[in-house]
Formats: sequence, C-alpha cells, structure tokens
Amino acid sequence: ISLKKAFQDKFYIGTTMNLEQIHGTDQKSIDIIKKQFSSIVAENCMKSMYLQPQEGKFFFDDADKFVEFGEKNEMFIIGHTLIWHSQVPDWFFVDKNGKNVSPEVLKQRMKNHITTIVSRYKGRVKGWDVVNEAIMEDGSYRKSKFYEILGEEFIPLAFKYAQEADPEAELYYNDYNEWYPEKVKTVTQIVQNLKSKGIRIDGVGMQAHVGMDSPSINEYEEAIVAYSESGVKVNITELDISALPSPWGTSANIADKVEYDEKMNPYKKGLPADVQSKWENRYLDFFQLFLKHKKDIRRVTLWGLTDSQSWKNDFPIKGRTDYPLLFDRQYKAKPIFEKIIKLSTEI
Ligand code: G3I
Repeated sequence: ISLKKAFQDKFYIGTTMNLEQIHGTDQKSIDIIKKQFSSIVAENCMKSMYLQPQEGKFFFDDADKFVEFGEKNEMFIIGHTLIWHSQVPDWFFVDKNGKNVSPEVLKQRMKNHITTIVSRYKGRVKGWDVVNEAIMEDGSYRKSKFYEILGEEFIPLAFKYAQEADPEAELYYNDYNEWYPEKVKTVTQIVQNLKSKGIRIDGVGMQAHVGMDSPSINEYEEAIVAYSESGVKVNITELDISALPSPWGTSANIADKVEYDEKMNPYKKGLPADVQSKWENRYLDFFQLFLKHKKDIRRVTLWGLTDSQSWKNDFPIKGRTDYPLLFDRQYKAKPIFEKIIKLSTEI
C-alpha cells in the first residue's frame, strides 16, 4: 500500500517539489510523488525572490505549473512562503537611495506581495506558510529587516493581509528548532496575540530538520502539546533526519560558515549497519510520536524526495553525502519506508 493510503485517516503526508519535478523533466520523481504523497510544497519557487524579483514584476510560471500539478493530482497544496527574511529580494526594504523604507512603505509592499500571490491561488493553495523563521531559539525576535522597520507588528499584519486575500486558506507560522522551550513560549504568545486580535492562524509549522540525537522525543512532544493547547494544529513541515555528525553538536548556535572537514563527511559509500539502524529507529520514534498525536497533527511533509536531492548534502558544509530521506539515490524506497507504513497500521 502507498504512504498516502496508509496515512489517509491520520494526516496529510507531503513532499517538496524542485524545478526539475515541476517542469516534468524528472519523471522518476514524479511517479513516486503521484503515487505516495497527498500534499506538496514548492521547495523554492514560491519564495519572494522568485515570485517578485523586482517591485511589481511578478514571475508566476513555475508556481503556476506547481499548482496545476497539485490540482490535477488532487493534492493538498501548500504555499511556501510569504514573509521570510531569507531569499527575499533586496528592493523590498530600501528606497531609491538605498535607505530603509518607512514602516508605511514596507506595509504597502508586504500587502501588495501577499495579496497578489494569495489571491492568484485563492481556493487552490490550501495552506500558506505566512511567516517563516521570525523567532530565535532564546525566544527573542530575529533582527530581520521586517522586524527592524515594523517591529513585532509585521507578523499580525502578514496574517491579516493573507486572511483578507483568501479567507478559506489555512494560515501557518513556520519555524525550525521550534521545540526550544523559549521559542515555544514566544510562538504560542504570537498565536494568542493573533487570536485576541481576531486574526486567524490555523497552525504552526514545525520544520523538523533534526539530527540523530537532538532534540529528544520528549522535548519534541512537549512542544507539540504546547502548540496544540494554544489552539492551533501542528504541521510537521520539513522533516528530514540527517545521518551525519552535526558540526554544531547539540548547540543551536548556527555559525554562518562551517568549513569542510573530512571527519564531517564519514559515509561517502553508504551508512554502516549500526548507523543505519540508529537512523531508522530515529525515524520510527518520530513517526510514532506523530501518530500518537494524530489528532493534533494536520500534515507531515518530508523536505525532499531522494537523498541526492536533499539540501542537507550542502548544509552547513557543501559537498557532504547525507542520507536524510525515505528514498535512496537510485529512487528506491529504503527499508524504513515499509516500516513506517507498518507502524501506521499499528497506532
Ligand atoms: O537556482 C540556482 C541555480 O541557477 C544555480 O546554478 C545554483 C548554484 O548554487 O543555485 C541555485 O539556487 C539554489 C536554490 O536552492 C535552488 O536549488 C540556491 O543557491 C540555494 O541557496 C537554495 O537553497 C534552498 C534554501 O532553502 C535556501 O535558503 C534549498 O534548496 C531549500 O531546500 C531550502 O529550504 C529551506 C526552507 O525554505 C525554509 N526552512 C529551511 C529549509 C532548508 O534551508
């Protein structure tokens, strides 16, 4: 049985689409995506630098194809992402002289960006990552340009604009390391703040780019429960489990640059059996947790299809050989694939 069939009464099960997949030049991937997944998200082409590279000049060709593919295959289509400090074009924040724009101008630009995109796909894209990665692990706001110019207000504004453009679409706040207790605290406050203002938020997205050891399943569970108790659904939005040693250990202090080191790329020819089995158990532990909380969870999306396509091979160090996903470099389902399906029938 397929993955989507196995989880159909539980939650949506999703994957990303890159440009080769969207343009139909990677048929092997497309066959797997159609057969196995009930939800899709574009890995890059709906980010602001691609959708609005110059002010007022929108580029929708790739995004249109992506949405058409999802509709044709009756998938739950996710839009990623409207407001993010990264992969955002420089013009967004500056005037003709290169100076920061006023709060009023930035609001207008945000509104125009969000309204144009969300209304184009109204009723077709079913859920939006409205704001991505605005909070740090210590619970403080990221000092992005959005924050610098508008303060905390940029978050409610973004949700308000999105809600106005498509009142039916689900709206999410999405972030990584969203299990850090201080981060959970701020994000649940954001949820409550939006709700008290009468602005809709339907879910938080926990990206779930996790490693072999951190976070613990308990830490993760506490966060899922806290978000659910704050009155929103939980989406596991970017799941991948790196099998490689983390250059950061268990610390969240993500350095800007980590240099390549052979020790950080130990499994070029495949995972040794003990590492493989530890990695499989890690996947099973997470899926067991998601199934236990299936009432709280709306969707689990894998961030990529095959290991060769994963961003993890190039982050935080370029040129590594990682094994974070369910399909191998030959597009073959790994043994974990059937184990996850089996688990779904047991819980
Ligand atoms: O398209 C160009 C190509 O023309 C050029 O030849 C090539 C050379 O490097 O770069 C290509 O662009 C790359 C793009 O992915 C498409 O492949 C960018 O350099 C690269 O930076 C970009 O990486 C993406 C990353 O976001 C950017 O921040 C990853 O694919 C994508 O998986 C990743 O996804 C993010 C989520 O959106 C948010 N959460 C974290 C997650 C992982 O970083």
